[in-house]
Amino acid sequence: MKIITSIPEVQTEIRKHRKQGQTIGFVPTMGALHQGHLSLAETCRKENDITVVSIFVNPAQFGPNEDFEKYPRDFQKDESMLKELGVDLIFYPAKDEIYPPGYCTYVEVEKLGQVLCGKSRPTHFSGVATVVLKLFNIIKPDRAYFGRKDAQQAVLVKRMVKELNVDVIIKALPIVRDHDGLALSSRNVYLSPAEREAALHLPQALIQAREQIQAGLKDAAQIKSVIETGLKNIPLLTVDYVEVVTLDRLEAFPVTPGGQLIDNNNTLVAAAVKVGKTRLIDNFILGEI
Ligand code: PAF
Repeated sequence: MKIITSIPEVQTEIRKHRKQGQTIGFVPTMGALHQGHLSLAETCRKENDITVVSIFVNPAQFGPNEDFEKYPRDFQKDESMLKELGVDLIFYPAKDEIYPPGYCTYVEVEKLGQVLCGKSRPTHFSGVATVVLKLFNIIKPDRAYFGRKDAQQAVLVKRMVKELNVDVIIKALPIVRDHDGLALSSRNVYLSPAEREAALHLPQALIQAREQIQAGLKDAAQIKSVIETGLKNIPLLTVDYVEVVTLDRLEAFPVTPGGQLIDNNNTLVAAAVKVGKTRLIDNFILGEI
């Protein structure tokens, strides 16, 4: 497994594989890898000749009072996990390699970046779109792999790629959960045992909503209220948002005499909470990203 930190070097390496007719699969990450990332890399390996994983804690997607400095970093552990999995190349650039002094070009995906998580993290998705497009331009992958835990991110990247005519197939793979149901996230390491207990109410509230939908509930407002009830009065936990929106446009469902009826093939049910200082997100989707 090669570890490359410079853009020209990684481009040369990729060009070499392309010349041999090999397909390139790409998994962008911020490191602190867990089974969720590894499941992306495993699928990537199965579907492509060469698997490239990037590890870059992207400052542009953190707000001024967010956890950029304390975001978990453990390159050696990440490296050994990826090596064991048979990944071919880690792209591990420094901050200045991606954002040299004076850097001033950013990508904005309007609307999709301003709703849900974008309301409380107004610059986040511009930072994500910018780094993802840069990485796509550097690696030029045939396929790129994202987790559905960050459903909004996957929807937004898919739209960006379509509208900017980037020649890459975006794959969004299922959420991987811990034994207790909590969606895997690099930020879970911040949780104390009591906070983790509180955090479990998030997947549990979503399961309740899903069960109600399976039993026939179709009104977005009522689905939202099932989740809000499940998250009410939980010590240590505050709700950022609970939203039931169309999966493709992240918009509210039209109001009809029968209520705001969801579409069983195009719905995202998503929530974000803060447990202590840690922000956690989770969701389920009806349909395909
Ligand atoms: O999902 C992430 O880890 C990040 O948002 C990504 C896609 C690697 C961009 O920095």
